[in-house]
This record gives sequence, C-alpha cells and structure tokens, in this order.
Amino acid sequence: MFVADPDKPHESASQTSASYPTLRPRRLRLSSGIRRMVQETTLSPSDFIYPLFVRHGHDVQQPIASMPGQFQRSVDRLPDEIRRIRALNIPAVLLFGIPETKDACGSDNFSTDGIIPNAVRAIKDVAPEMVVISDMCFCEYTSHGHCGIVNTVGDAYYDSNLPEGYLLNDPTLELLGRASVVHAGAGADVIAPSGMIDGMVGALRAALDGSGFQHTAIMSYAAKYASGFYGPFRDAAESPPQFGDRSQYQMDPANAREALKEVALDVAEGADMLIVKPALPYLDIVSAVRRTYPLPLAAYQVSGEFAMLHAAGANGWIDLRRCALESLIGIKRAGADMIVTYFAPDAARWLDSSR
Ligand code: PBG
Repeated sequence: MFVADPDKPHESASQTSASYPTLRPRRLRLSSGIRRMVQETTLSPSDFIYPLFVRHGHDVQQPIASMPGQFQRSVDRLPDEIRRIRALNIPAVLLFGIPETKDACGSDNFSTDGIIPNAVRAIKDVAPEMVVISDMCFCEYTSHGHCGIVNTVGDAYYDSNLPEGYLLNDPTLELLGRASVVHAGAGADVIAPSGMIDGMVGALRAALDGSGFQHTAIMSYAAKYASGFYGPFRDAAESPPQFGDRSQYQMDPANAREALKEVALDVAEGADMLIVKPALPYLDIVSAVRRTYPLPLAAYQVSGEFAMLHAAGANGWIDLRRCALESLIGIKRAGADMIVTYFAPDAARWLDSSR
C-alpha cells in the first residue's frame, strides 16, 4: 500500500496511479489567471538589494562602460538616486566606495571622514528608513587591490614565517573590525564582509559589540567564489588585484561541500544573514544553503551576469527584460530570499508595469 510521506510531497505525487490521459498538467497553464494561481515563486521589489558605487569628487556621475545604466556617483549625487530607489520600493542598498587615495592598508576604509561614512550619512539624511549595507572589504582601498594586508618585506606587518604576497589573515581582521565600527558609527544598518577572510564574522561581531553596536547586523558573504564573473565590477570599483589573483581566499568554483563548511563557520560566528555569490552559476549552492540553514539568504547576481544579459540584449539575441526577470525568479526559486542585483530599479519598474 502506498502511504504518502508529507515530507516528500513530490515523491508521493509521482507514485499516484493516475497518469495521462487522466492527468493533463496543461490544464493548469490554460489561462493567465490559472497560471497566476498556481505560481509557486514570486518576485517583488522588496526582494532586491541595489549596489551603488560611490566615488570621491563633486557632482560626478560617471557611467560604467561594461554595466549599462550603472554609474559611479559622488556623495552629493546620492540623494536623488536614493529618492528614486525609495520610490520604486526597493528597501536596501549595498555600498562600494572608491576613495581618493589608496594605500597599503586601505586607511580610507576606517577613516571617519572616508568615502563610505560620508555616503552613509548622506543617504540616512534623505531616507532614514533605507537599509544601508556596507560591503566590508579592503580591495577598493588598497594600492595593491587585495582584500586586506599583504605580507611585504619592510612593512610593519611583515611576518617572515609566512610567504611574501600572502594575505595576512589576522591583521586584516583587526582592520576589518575597525572599519566596521566606523561604518556602523556613520549609520550603516548592516555590515557585509566580503573578503572571505577566516574568522571575519566573529571578529566583526566582537568589534561591533565592543563599541556599542550590538544592534548592527552582519550579512556575511559566506560562500564567495573566485569568479571570472566579477570582471566588470573590478572596473566599476577600480579594484583589480595588481598582482596574483584572489584564489588564496575566495573559493574554488569546483567546490560545493566546502561552501557548507564556510556557511557553518559563519553561522557559528554569529552571522545574521548569508550571501552566496555569484548567483546563476551557483544555484546548487543557493539551494543547498537554503535547505541546510534557516538564516535569511541572499544571492548576488554579479556584474558579469548583468553585463552578459545586457550584451546579448543589445545585440538583439535575447529579450533583455524577459531574460533578466527569468534569471531573477530562477534565483528565488533556488531558495534565495533576497537578490543583490544591478537590475533592481529596472526590474522593479518592469514588475510594476506587468501588474
Ligand atoms: C569585493 C567585491 C567584489 C564584488 C563585490 N565585492 C569583487 C571581487 O571579489 O573581486 C563583485 C561584485 C560584482 O561583480 O558585481 N569587495
């Protein structure tokens, strides 16, 4: 006798005796009304987190060539953009800073007058309810473009036991903690460490709590892969590594079990939310993390994913709007609660006009 297992509804369904011609799944696709009724996944502007690139200077709004419709903006150009984002019901922005000067330890990142603290204050002035997430990494701030302090002969942090060029983990944690406190002090609601530095979530939690920011949340890039799809971003954020690559700290695209290990560590260290990045080539990871952990989960549709869709759309090879929305719903279907996406304003408008 067949007994339905409520935990495995799909399996029990496939074992019922009925089949074609009694069962005709097309009945549920006959009209747009019925399709809407049985739709399993939905997409809304509330799902989106919009990345913004903030640069030094005044009255600057510089287009990013490989990312159509995306700009580097100076702080004074943020308020208008924030009002536009708010009007589209997008709840959150993710900030990347391009400082005026870079140095070996990325000091603009932990200066109270740095690019991000200024941007956060400007945003909170016009939209206190906008969730401001600060991407916490050093690659945009260091002269060498790596995500922390690099072991260099003659440098104050030089450690002769470690190879030259090695990203120094523990000194980097200390600077990440300092920068997080500065960004939280400026009003950032969420700190999102993105460097794949061991122990980063625990170090940030301790630093934030130690300075009275126990209410500031941590959204960890728990599983971030060393991906070619970050190409356009590195131009946008002016952050390509000047030597080597990021394979010493970002994950190997071949590994899935390792992603669960990384997530487990970040959960244990106190992460409030998780990010998997990139999105589309890593939907199996999104799905596995979703099934294993109850934390809110974001997937990051990165610059290369955005650029590819735009390039194919511009050539007339695909319908940009349709394929962008299809990618976004696919990311949600895989299990993401939130999507970091450069499509956020366009998608919000498209969703609104299709209602
Ligand atoms: C690092 C960071 C990167 C991205 C977001 N944060 C680049 C990198 O790791 O090289 C990429 C985002 C994108 O490609 O859209 N601070």
